[in-house]
Amino acid sequence: EKGTYPYYMLKEIDDQPTVMRRISQEYTNTLGDAVIDEKIIEKITDSDRIYIVACGTSYNAGWVGKALLERMTHIPVEVHLSSEFGYNMPLLSEKPFFIFLSQSGETADSRQVLVQTNELGLPSLTLTNVAGSTLSREADYTLLLHAGPEIAVASTKAYTAQIAVLAVLAKAVGDNKGNQSSLDFDIAHELSVIAAVMETIIDEKMVISQLVEDYLSTTRNAFYIGRGVDYYVSMEASLKLKEISYIQAEGFAAGELKHGTIALIEEGTPVFGVITDQKTAAHTRGNLKEVESRGAHNFVIALASLAKVTDQLIIPDVYPLLSPLVSIIPTQLIAYFATLQRGYDVDKPRNLAKSVTVE
Ligand code: BG6
Repeated sequence: EKGTYPYYMLKEIDDQPTVMRRISQEYTNTLGDAVIDEKIIEKITDSDRIYIVACGTSYNAGWVGKALLERMTHIPVEVHLSSEFGYNMPLLSEKPFFIFLSQSGETADSRQVLVQTNELGLPSLTLTNVAGSTLSREADYTLLLHAGPEIAVASTKAYTAQIAVLAVLAKAVGDNKGNQSSLDFDIAHELSVIAAVMETIIDEKMVISQLVEDYLSTTRNAFYIGRGVDYYVSMEASLKLKEISYIQAEGFAAGELKHGTIALIEEGTPVFGVITDQKTAAHTRGNLKEVESRGAHNFVIALASLAKVTDQLIIPDVYPLLSPLVSIIPTQLIAYFATLQRGYDVDKPRNLAKSVTVE
């Protein structure tokens, strides 16, 4: 039910702090340990490589999952588009483990991969929001996202829920292996910090709405740039913007922009820089300078400890690898307000469906 909300998307953006707390309740105990089916933990611990397979927003969440899983479990992770993987299957490792990410659990592109991995007898897990969905029934194991129904076509809370559940999974496997990086990761505490920070950003809605008017009211295109997890967020932020506002948006690895795409920067082109990683902050700032000197209208989203007073949006600090859970929130609101201001239907963008059951 969207209740008093004008659009489901806005409600679903607002739901995210609650979803983080729910995931923490469902998947951690009072000691702060991750609580996940032992069989899943054993199978992943026993594997030599994790393959994440997904489409759209779920694919973008997979990249953040890769960063978390590799840090905590020390197992290499590959992230693949379902529609590519099935027909151009990469050389698999000796003991692969497959994770299918799918909000709906019905996406045909992902299912065709699962059919193949099942034929090969390879172990699989589906992370989905829908209990009893096709991908859930056909995979060996399921972890539910507990995000509540997601109605708007543009996915928001399923993205953050996928990342949070992958973080819990990473912690569970990492702890099982006795990895220090994982033992030091207090997931329940970090998710409660995240929920509170999400709330502070959501409370700034009207500030974001005004910034969107300033930056995006007449533009036909826009860029998001970042490095590492900030790059992964840039991919999702640009997908959100283009799928509902129809502004042509691209998410770029900040360092790669100058190797070609910088040719598209003109006077007034909006470039959103995402800065949450201390290792790469200075480099991304350098890339923002490069585009600014070619006329770009820069908009910086930064964590407080890395921010400058001139940055447009400053977010309280959170656990570094979990920063996508909070840096994505302003970008969801940016897409929402850009769409609203252009007079399009936020929840039902043209040409798109919530779940696509053809390949
Ligand atoms: C697309 C939807 O068709 O499928 C996207 O429009 C979604 O919002 C993508 O991210 C993948 O869907 P799912 O249900 O497999 O996560």
